[in-house]
Amino acid sequence: MSVQESLFMRAAFSQPTERPPVWMMRQAGRFMKEYWEIKNKYSFLEMCKTPEIASDVTLLPVNLLGIDAAILFSDILVTAEAMGGQLSFKQGVGPRFANPVRTKTDVDNLRTDVVDRLQYVADAIRITQQRLKGSLPLIGFAGAPFTVLSYLVEGGSSKDFKQTKLLLYNEPELAHTLLGKIADVTVQYLNMQIDAGVNALQLFDSWAQTLSWEDYKEFSHQYNKQIIAKLNRKNVPIISFCKGSSVFAPLMVEAAPDVVSVDWNADIRTIKAGLPKGMAVQGNLDPAILYADKAVIKKRVLHLIEHMRGEDGFIFNLGHGIMPDLPFDHVKYAIDLIKEFRY
Ligand code: CP3
Repeated sequence: MSVQESLFMRAAFSQPTERPPVWMMRQAGRFMKEYWEIKNKYSFLEMCKTPEIASDVTLLPVNLLGIDAAILFSDILVTAEAMGGQLSFKQGVGPRFANPVRTKTDVDNLRTDVVDRLQYVADAIRITQQRLKGSLPLIGFAGAPFTVLSYLVEGGSSKDFKQTKLLLYNEPELAHTLLGKIADVTVQYLNMQIDAGVNALQLFDSWAQTLSWEDYKEFSHQYNKQIIAKLNRKNVPIISFCKGSSVFAPLMVEAAPDVVSVDWNADIRTIKAGLPKGMAVQGNLDPAILYADKAVIKKRVLHLIEHMRGEDGFIFNLGHGIMPDLPFDHVKYAIDLIKEFRY
């Protein structure tokens, strides 16, 4: 079977499948002891920037979990680093930018001619495709401009997004300049990934749920829409993921992705019913279900599949990423259940 005929690609283009395809956000990560065997030898950024290692990690869940699509091992913040952010990842702290972007000078200093600096990602894609030999689709990705802006402005992760909101509300023009620069880089970066051979792309807007409807429209949605419109996407489906999709789905639809990835707050069938014909959904199991007993996992996983019965264009995923302390055998159990299912 060619990649274009795989379960994942058919579901992404809303064609019939005998069962939903399954992959999971953050499937290549810390819940696997095999990840730690690599991580103990290199820093996270070294792993991202060494194409052979990034490819090895990308293939861990292919070999250990048997998922239906691989997602490239990398991070949404590599673009921000290439633009000039001084990025580091500290264990237990997460990403940090030593030079937060707050002033007009900070924004002006960020560069946008960065594709050359991100060639390691293209190389990782090429190596991974050679190794996959057409057996599975490979998903590339980038962060959505608002989410990337929040890391640059806060200087790392945030609970209240205070500096981000101060910028948006007090200096909207400067915020738009910054968002425009990130969007420009994101288009170049995703088209580079298409040229390098990815089969699908996902845009991650992980922190959109912190915005009101009007602010999401102004500071996030319009940039995501521009990005999607500028991708050379022939045969490459675009998945739009947004934490907050339960609320923002009608706007996400307007940006015209091929797939809307839904968080676990929403009734995914209701969201699907509101999409134009030919637009697929992905989601939306609460990742915390995978902490529960296997009997509970079984009930909830099968319920979600049954709930979507009769709907073409359904990709099974979580509503957000796998947590680092989820038991590996619970994740594998859920995936096996989905793979054994037939409509
Ligand atoms: O899905 C995959 O397995 C592919 C690889 C991937 C990573 N990050 C690896 C990673 C992907 C798609 C991402 C995207 C990403 N990165 C997002 C969007 C998705 C989401 O979860 O909302 C965001 C917001 C980031 C930024 C980021 N990177 C954070 C906040 C952290 C720290 C996480 C934490 O809980 O400490 C990272 C680091 C990171 N990215 C790790 C991995 C495997 C952990 C690195 C380590 O081993 O210490």
